Amino acid sequence: MPFYSDDIIEEVRSRNDIVDVISQYVHLQKKGSSYFGLCPFHNEKTGSFSVTPSKQMYYCFGCGAGGNVFTFLMNYENFTFSEAMEALADRAGISLPKQEMTGAARAEADKRNQLFEINREAATYFYSLLRSEKGKFAHDYFVKRELSPETMQKFGLGYSDKYSDDLYRYLRGKGYTDDVLKDSGLITIDEKRGAHDKFWNRAMFPIMDPNSKVVAFGGRVMGEGEPKYLNSPETMIFNKSRTLYGLHIARRTKKEQFILCEGYMDVIALHQAGFDNAIASLGTALTSGHANMIKRYGKDVYLSYDSDGAGTKAALRAIPILKEAGITCKVINMHPYKDPDEFIKNLGQEAYQQRIDQAENSFMFTLRILERDYNMKDPESKTKFYHEVANRILEFPDELERNNYIEAVASKYQVGFEQMRQMVNRMGTKVGLASEPKPLKSGVQKKQTREDGMMKSQRLMLTWLVEQPSLYQGVKAYLVPEDFTEGIYAKVAGELFSQFEEADGVNPAKIVSMFADEEQQRQVAEIFNTSVDGIEKQADFEKAIKETLLRIKQNSMEQKQRNLDPTDMAGLSQMIEDKRRLQELEKLHISLK
Ligand code: CTP
Ligand code: MN
Repeated sequence: MPFYSDDIIEEVRSRNDIVDVISQYVHLQKKGSSYFGLCPFHNEKTGSFSVTPSKQMYYCFGCGAGGNVFTFLMNYENFTFSEAMEALADRAGISLPKQEMTGAARAEADKRNQLFEINREAATYFYSLLRSEKGKFAHDYFVKRELSPETMQKFGLGYSDKYSDDLYRYLRGKGYTDDVLKDSGLITIDEKRGAHDKFWNRAMFPIMDPNSKVVAFGGRVMGEGEPKYLNSPETMIFNKSRTLYGLHIARRTKKEQFILCEGYMDVIALHQAGFDNAIASLGTALTSGHANMIKRYGKDVYLSYDSDGAGTKAALRAIPILKEAGITCKVINMHPYKDPDEFIKNLGQEAYQQRIDQAENSFMFTLRILERDYNMKDPESKTKFYHEVANRILEFPDELERNNYIEAVASKYQVGFEQMRQMVNRMGTKVGLASEPKPLKSGVQKKQTREDGMMKSQRLMLTWLVEQPSLYQGVKAYLVPEDFTEGIYAKVAGELFSQFEEADGVNPAKIVSMFADEEQQRQVAEIFNTSVDGIEKQADFEKAIKETLLRIKQNSMEQKQRNLDPTDMAGLSQMIEDKRRLQELEKLHISLK
């Protein structure tokens, strides 16, 4: 990870106007002192996405996305911080200090670049073969599978020639050495038999990373034959358990879920039918690596695995992995068809959308499959089933959630709610169910939805300070950064207060850069973009500031008082002084202006 100084980070940031940069992606219109547009991070019809030139920040009042120009690129392009730095430095014509790399690191970076190049060359080659006389049969095959020319182009589909060293000769002609070719996974080099292509006479599916770079291929026999699909082996640039087919397109979807399916053709058929959120894990079971990728895009999941035994088993394995990563998932029923590709061919796009709308809760899906192992006509077997269900309900840490599932089970499986609840509770005491919810192993916790009034008061005050810097002198007589008690707020307030004391003045976008974590950057944007309704007159505004200030100070003093050591005399007298001044402010009509 390259390390850049704060100065160079700030230079790159300040030389890329946020309105110019975001305008390349979002249509913005000026309204007052900000620009507004449709949020690229959630689906909306009226623009709640704002970009404010004076703050050099963006913030969506709908979904809460926000940050500075770096955050935007990190979220929109899914860049790392270094990649965002490089792109913006480039855009502003700033040359970044070259990093000192060790010889080995340099060689590795070169190798990776070459592997990317080779995969791109191969993809271009297969693509043109498909459109040549040699590829006619493969082309007919795709047409028979009802793919449109646009779809074939969009997914870069191709064909590998029937000679088993065709690609090898082509790439050698481009100047690549055997040494690097054998690491590409596309060529095997054997002492006795010489060089061979991994793929020949197959319909080719390039596999892209999230930035649309080709990292591997899948190749399908045309018609019947074994193996049906061949995939590139893992290489320096291809990690199977972190690669999701179709993600480079699906990451831009405005839908809140990904449709997770099993195969290449499923993803392609879904995209062709307008489901731009389809992805697949390829030829491997879903891993926690995949789940974390999905989580990074903030999506939940509709599972659309094959409806046969193997697909059902794969779904049962995938559900807990998704859950562990904090992803909610529902299961799409494709009966009587096997996979999304077949389903859409037979019943069409609208019918599939209906199946999405009717998708089953993953827990209820699991129970429905579990039930098949029990004879529900036999009292003993049936009881065992209920026990197993109760046991599984215990896995929900939250009582309300448990009760909701008990209710769902009671109504679906004809058992009394109270009976079921008692069974769950009995088992719970047996296994020692703690009243505290146990944290998930992955450390991912449910997002807190509680909108705390105190947090809002603190954010409001910080927003006001940025929007009306003249307030600072009045406010600082009463508030110190530590009075902003919530999470990162004290740190943000501290930075803001010191900016007020410095010559350069207020610069909220710079504060965003001080946080490495995208979620924290979002929070900084939220802090500086808080507003309340109903303040029209200046008098109302002054009253609101004063009340907010009092609330913040009172809260902070209460916290202090709780933690105060009774023998701390200096602390006590400071407290008394603070209280006195607070009362003064409350009673008197002191203007903060
Ligand atoms: N797969 C694989 N190797 C195989 C079979 C399957 O890697 N020998 C992977 C492929 O990614 C494939 C997915 O598993 O897309 C699902 O397999 P399957 O359901 O058999 O194939 P379909 O996607 O239905 O393929 P098609 O529609 O082309 O027959
Ligand atoms: Mn299929």
